[in-house]
Amino acid sequence: ASAQDQNPEQFDFVVVANRLPVDRVVNDDGEASWKRSPGGLVTALAPVMTAADGAWVGWHGAPDETVEPFEHDGIQIVPVELSEREVNHYYEGFSNSTLWPLYHDVIVTPEYHRAWWDSYRRVNQRFADATAAVAAEGATVWVQDYQLQLVPKMLRAARPDLRIGFFNHIPFPPVEIFAQLPWRHRVLEGLLGADLIGFQRASDASNFMGAVRRILGFTIRGQQVHVQDEEGKLTHISRAEAHPISIDAQAVAKMANDPKVQARAKEIRRGLGNPDVVLLGVDRLDYTKGIGHRLKAFDELLEDGRLEVGGAALVQVASPSRERVEKYKELRDEIELTVGRINGQHDTMSHTAVRYLHHSYPFEEMVALYLASDVMLITALRDGMNLVAKEFVAAHVDSRGALILSEFAGAADQLKHALLVNPHDIDALKERIIEAVRMPTTEAQRRMRIMRRQISTNDVNRWSRRFLKSLSADPAESAHRTEN
Ligand code: G6P
Repeated sequence: ASAQDQNPEQFDFVVVANRLPVDRVVNDDGEASWKRSPGGLVTALAPVMTAADGAWVGWHGAPDETVEPFEHDGIQIVPVELSEREVNHYYEGFSNSTLWPLYHDVIVTPEYHRAWWDSYRRVNQRFADATAAVAAEGATVWVQDYQLQLVPKMLRAARPDLRIGFFNHIPFPPVEIFAQLPWRHRVLEGLLGADLIGFQRASDASNFMGAVRRILGFTIRGQQVHVQDEEGKLTHISRAEAHPISIDAQAVAKMANDPKVQARAKEIRRGLGNPDVVLLGVDRLDYTKGIGHRLKAFDELLEDGRLEVGGAALVQVASPSRERVEKYKELRDEIELTVGRINGQHDTMSHTAVRYLHHSYPFEEMVALYLASDVMLITALRDGMNLVAKEFVAAHVDSRGALILSEFAGAADQLKHALLVNPHDIDALKERIIEAVRMPTTEAQRRMRIMRRQISTNDVNRWSRRFLKSLSADPAESAHRTEN
């Protein structure tokens, strides 16, 4: 309560996420200001935040730096500070070298260090305290993602009056994998502090409930758990549901209809030497994305002579990510070595096999790139959702193009008219690429139209509305609602 007294300003709707919805930009005169971050979550929540007098609690991205709360675009920004050691232990360590690989089916081996866990706990407590201090009586709080799984329970302990939602943006693994985590009880209990726990896929929600049953020994009825305190008194009912996230489909389509963006798309194709087919990969440079598998399939198709440099080009945008984490450094070396080899082998004086770009680009340029491409390659080995798949579809206002989509991405549950593939099966991946390249226009358009309808109906706005509606509902009633 003391923190509440110090800060009289209180909010009815509070989002809590590892990252703030704003990025610092420094102009030519060295002056710093804040700009809204790109990305779906901010876009989705901005209208809700403005309408509901909202605050956003998060880290500003720089170690050892205190930033005072401020308002931006009608959103109250509440910065949480992390020390250099915490960035190392909580963010790069426990979040991204323990939980991230564990939750993505141990594609790389998770590391378990007690010092990381201590830091994770402490930082989660700091986020919970900061949230408790700015949340008004009876406010709705929406906690985001795997970096903050202990916050729901910590927050409920401090503020039982709050409605607490949690959304996990990444997969939740089967119990056989989750059970490796030395602090598995604590994480499950942390999450169960929420009234509603949202997941990308129905299978993630049932993996979570399976873990709650097997590890905590709780009884589950219709995806609900009766959570009790130490004395065995019922505190609340916690529910797990699937709420697949989406994109602002209208904004993407609007951008794709802009003549400047369309001209830019043509220019991109010219820049590649006007090949017949442009294949595209767009990912954070992450080992979950299966970039190596995709390169291998493309390389073999060139080797076999089924594709030819000049006729086909692969553009791979790999945006820099978590660059101080060891596995990410190794991955970068590996991918760049492979790209170098493929290009050394197959490039001609006038054309390149793989145009590799280790950059992030503004939204406009991405939409132009989607439009410029014929075949999108999503080969994730495991992915919570994969919004790139949805963006590619939404950008194709001409209904041209083919989407190759890994079965292991959450998006595959919804985009059933994509060319679905198991990316581990290199031969199948090669066949899918050839199928995409040769697909008759009418067939490609038929598939694209169905997928476009899916995404424009289920956009990000609907995602947040549906989650928040369920969060505010009485658990007894929501048990009878059907999933869509
Ligand atoms: C994934 C996670 C997000 C995370 C993003 C970027 O989408 O679900 O929580 O913010 O990757 O990663 P970073 O570590 O840079 O925040």
